[in-house]
Amino acid sequence: MSNKMWGGRFSTGPNAIMEEINASIGFDQRLYAQDIAGSKAHATMLAAQGIVGAKDVEKIQKGLDTILSEIEAGRFTFRRDLEDIHMNVEQRLADLIGPSAGRLHTARSRNDQVATDFRLYVRDTIDALDAQLADLMTALAEKALAHAATVMPGFTHLQTAQPVTFGHHLMAYVEMLARDRGRLRDARTRLNESPLGSAALAGTSFPIDRDATAAALGFDRPTANSLDAVSDRDFVLETLAAAAICAIHLSRFAEEVVIWTSPSFGLIKLSDAFTTGSSIMPQKRNPDAAELARGKAGRIVGALTGLLVVMKGLPLAYAKDMQEDKEGAFDAFSALSLVIAATAGMVRDLEPEAARMRAAAGQGYSTATDLADWLVRALGIPFREAHHATGRIVALASERGVPLHRLSLEDMQGVDARITQDVFSVLSVTKSVASRTSYGGTAPVRVRAQARRWLKTLAKP
Ligand code: ARG
Repeated sequence: MSNKMWGGRFSTGPNAIMEEINASIGFDQRLYAQDIAGSKAHATMLAAQGIVGAKDVEKIQKGLDTILSEIEAGRFTFRRDLEDIHMNVEQRLADLIGPSAGRLHTARSRNDQVATDFRLYVRDTIDALDAQLADLMTALAEKALAHAATVMPGFTHLQTAQPVTFGHHLMAYVEMLARDRGRLRDARTRLNESPLGSAALAGTSFPIDRDATAAALGFDRPTANSLDAVSDRDFVLETLAAAAICAIHLSRFAEEVVIWTSPSFGLIKLSDAFTTGSSIMPQKRNPDAAELARGKAGRIVGALTGLLVVMKGLPLAYAKDMQEDKEGAFDAFSALSLVIAATAGMVRDLEPEAARMRAAAGQGYSTATDLADWLVRALGIPFREAHHATGRIVALASERGVPLHRLSLEDMQGVDARITQDVFSVLSVTKSVASRTSYGGTAPVRVRAQARRWLKTLAKP
C-alpha cells in the first residue's frame, strides 16, 4: 500500500529497507510534546485567519489534546511505516476526528514543522541544563567556602608550583561553568525565532500570521527567510558546541578527581556513595563516576563533530541528511545532564585530606617564589636577580635534602649576606597563600569573598 499522507503518485509501498532507513520515529518520538504544541499554535492561527473553519479547528484541538494524553499515558502506538512523529500524530488525529484532520497541514510542511519542534526541544534542554549548572556551581561554591583556607599544592605541568587553597581551585570551575551558562544562554537567544510558516522552503500563499504562531510558542519573532528557516541547524550546532565546551570543563575536573583520589596523591577522598569496588582486588575504591564523566565528554564532542560533518556539504534547502541531526544531539544532551548531576554529587561528597594536602603543598620548594619576592622587597634587587639567588638557595636545600624553611640562616647568607631572619616569615605555605591577596588571587580572604559573591548571585531566582 502506498503512503496515505504523500502516496498519491505512488502505486506501491516502500521496500522494507527503504522504510527502515527512512524512519525517524524510533528517536523523534521524543519531540511529541513540541510537535503537538506547534500543531495547536498553527491550528489556532488557521482559524483566526479564516483559513480553516472554527468547527474543524475545535475538533483538531481536542484530538491533539487526546493524543498528548495518550502518549503521556503510554497508550500510543508509534508506527514505523508512518516515518516520523509528525505523521504519527497526524494519522492518529485522522483516526480520531476523521477528514477534518487533513486541514491541519494547510500552509505547513514537515520541513518547517521539524525545525520548529527541534528548536522548542533544544530551548527546553538549554533551560534544564542551565538549572543543573546553577546547582553544580552552588555545590562548588559551598565547598569552596568551607575550604577557603585549606592549603593544597597548586600545579603547573602537574609539577608542584605554588601553594593554593582548595577553595580557590574549586572556584576556578565556578568561573568556567558561568561561562558555559552564558554560552548556552547566547545560543538560546539566537535560536528563539519561529520557523513555523516557512512551509516547505518558499513560504505559503495562504494569509497566515507568523507573528501569532511565534508568540504562541514563546518565540521572540518569526524567522525572516523561509529557505534559511528550514535549512538551518546552527541552533543545534551552537548548543552542542556550548555543551561540548562544558563537557570538557567537567572532564578536566573529573581528571583531577581521578588523580587526587589515587593513593599515590591521596589529596581528596570520595565516600562509598561515589566509588566502586573491584571484583578481584578487595582494597580498591575506584572513582568510576569521575572516569565516566571524563569518558562521556568524548561522545558529546563526537555529536558536535558528527553534525558539523553532516551539514557541511548540504545545498539549500531541506535534505533528508538533516534527519541525522537528532540522535547525536539527544544523546549528547542527556549525557551532559547526567555528567552535571554526577559531578554535583561528587563535589558534595568529596572531602580533602587536609594534612596530606598541606604536606604536599610544601613539597618541591613550592615557596621559592615567595623567597624571591622577599628578596625583591627586602633588598630592593630586580626580580631576575632575586630569581637567580633563590635558584642557588633551592640547589643548596636540595643538596642538604631539606625543605627551604629548614635551611639555616647561615646557609642562606652564604648565597646573599644581606638575608635576615625575617625571610623565614614568608616560607610557610600558610603565609604564602595568605599573602596572595591580589584580586583573583588564592588568599583565603579573596576566596571567601568570591564564594560568597557567587552564592549570593546563585540564590537569586
Ligand atoms: N523526519 C524528518 C526529519 O527529522 C521530518 C522532515 C521530513 N521532511 C521531508 N520532506 N521528508 O528531518
